[in-house]
Amino acid sequence: MSTTPATLDLSAKDLDPSRDFARHLDSIDSLVGFRDRFACPVDRDGSRIAYFAGNSLGLMPLDARRLVNEELDDWASMAVEGHLSSRRPWLPYHESLSAPGARLVGATPDEVVMMNTLTVNLHLMMVSFYRPSGRRRLLLMEEGAFPSDRYAIESHVSSRGLDPATTIVRVAPHKGESLLRLEDTLAAIERHADELALVLMGGVGFVTGQRLEMPEITGAAQRAGAICGWDLAHAVGNIPLSLHDWNADFAVWCSYKYLNSGPGAVAGAFVHERHGANAALPRYAGWWGNDPATRFRMEPQFVPRAGAHGWQLSNPPILSMAPLIASLAIFDEAGGMTALRSKSRVLTAYLEFLLRERGASGDAASRASRAPIEVVTPADVESRGCQLSLRVRGADAASRQRELAERGFWLDHRPPDVLRAAPTPLYNSFDEVWRLAEALAG
Ligand SMILES: Cc1ncc(COP(=O)(O)O)c(C=O)c1O
Repeated sequence: MSTTPATLDLSAKDLDPSRDFARHLDSIDSLVGFRDRFACPVDRDGSRIAYFAGNSLGLMPLDARRLVNEELDDWASMAVEGHLSSRRPWLPYHESLSAPGARLVGATPDEVVMMNTLTVNLHLMMVSFYRPSGRRRLLLMEEGAFPSDRYAIESHVSSRGLDPATTIVRVAPHKGESLLRLEDTLAAIERHADELALVLMGGVGFVTGQRLEMPEITGAAQRAGAICGWDLAHAVGNIPLSLHDWNADFAVWCSYKYLNSGPGAVAGAFVHERHGANAALPRYAGWWGNDPATRFRMEPQFVPRAGAHGWQLSNPPILSMAPLIASLAIFDEAGGMTALRSKSRVLTAYLEFLLRERGASGDAASRASRAPIEVVTPADVESRGCQLSLRVRGADAASRQRELAERGFWLDHRPPDVLRAAPTPLYNSFDEVWRLAEALAG
């Protein structure tokens, strides 16, 4: 076998269930060195935990501590002078994050701003982009969307004097299935074309790991005359995105999952340039969204800065932003999402292959076979990111998760019966995946 990273571009027929093969894959993985750039919990014996919970909270880049400490040192020694004179001046601090953030979501730096948290950004976007008027007032989302999105969306609908029960259209999987079908979403958009104001969906489903067809859905929503926005919490840093070219209207994401920027990390928002240039768009304004050329004149009139930065409210939290500098730099160093995705496809396919070797079934087949584990996530590599959602039988997912943790495997679960395992290309090895498959089977 060749030893170039391209070898990782394997198809299912090239995979081999032996542990030696897992070790071989690690030996030819050009990204393997990035494992040591992250802190990882250890078990009672001091052995590294096999960490598969990056879909919930990514591991800490070792550089994060240094960068946070540098900001603390500069604050201690420079106080207010640090705004302009620290090693990374605080005044334009957030600006440096837009370019690496934009590379991750396929946008221009002006279309991306790192600010607030995901739900806050969702509210800010909905103020601007959910503008019900006349008959066009419906909002389409997926059944089973993340609760915070549901609460945010329902609160916007109610605050406009509308009834969520009749204003929100929900697309759901067919009875007995777990995954959304594209044709159902497109049909729902078509059915409500004259009344639809906004389509707002999750790019990758948080329970199923299903990747939705973002360009197709965005195009269909816009042809119907609606706006289309995306929650990319489980997509960013996981799959390549091309928000600008897909013509998405807006998107929001958090940075603590695959972006490894720490608990409650500063989140991101994308506003397509055609909206960013529209100063007349209604928005909830704050002084940091004002044009920097006039921001410090403290004038009564708000003049939005062009681009996504015009949605900022407050001066950025430097201590919370420092880890983002460390984590986004790692993505660039690793070769961006193209390189990471090429490993990720194989890493997850390998886990799926090993589970099937050990008797797991796919969505539809499992009901007949009663296999102990059902892989809920789509089998089609293009319809998923790195996460595999596993329906476990014979035990509830919470106790299964605890039992695996005792054995050194950290996953998470969603009640009642789904375990989520996210092999991430930056810090998971093929050998860990092999051991996880053994542990899940045992
Ligand atoms: C899909 C999705 N949307 C929204 C949120 C909420 O994020 P935040 O707490 O940063 O607002 C989460 C958090 O895990 C999520 O997974």
